[in-house]
Amino acid sequence: MPPFVGTADERRALAVYLALLGGAHPQSLATEPGVAGADGATFFETNCSMCHGPDGEWPMTARSPRTAGEFYDLLGRLPEVNEMMPPFDGSDAERRAVASHLSAIATGK
Ligand code: HEC
Repeated sequence: MPPFVGTADERRALAVYLALLGGAHPQSLATEPGVAGADGATFFETNCSMCHGPDGEWPMTARSPRTAGEFYDLLGRLPEVNEMMPPFDGSDAERRAVASHLSAIATGK
């Protein structure tokens, strides 16, 4: 599959839509995106901010803006992106949450 090219908001909207198609109750979806975002921030703080935080050597804020889909793709091959980076060892849900978090940082939203 090609990486998702939409914005974080579009991705969330699509995820909600797909969950509803799958029979999820609308109310059960209300808090999902916020929770995933928080998890992404925590994961980033713990595993990435020593290099990519505002005080790190390679802050994410200075980067060219990338979509969550592009970050998701990059997260699948971190050691290839730079040999200093360990492979991403989180779950797929975490990978999505971190990608969304990174996109928010990099685009200043
Ligand atoms: C040991 C330091 C280190 C750690 C820890 C680290 N990285 Fe990196 N990362 C780098 C370096 C060095 C580069 C390449 C230099 C650059 O892009 O400024 C890089 C580049 C990247 C890029 C490419 C940025 C771009 O827009 O081209 C992404 C995405 C990224 N890292 C994500 C992560 C994530 C997510 C984590 C945590 C799971 C992480 N990195 C942990 C050092 C690190």
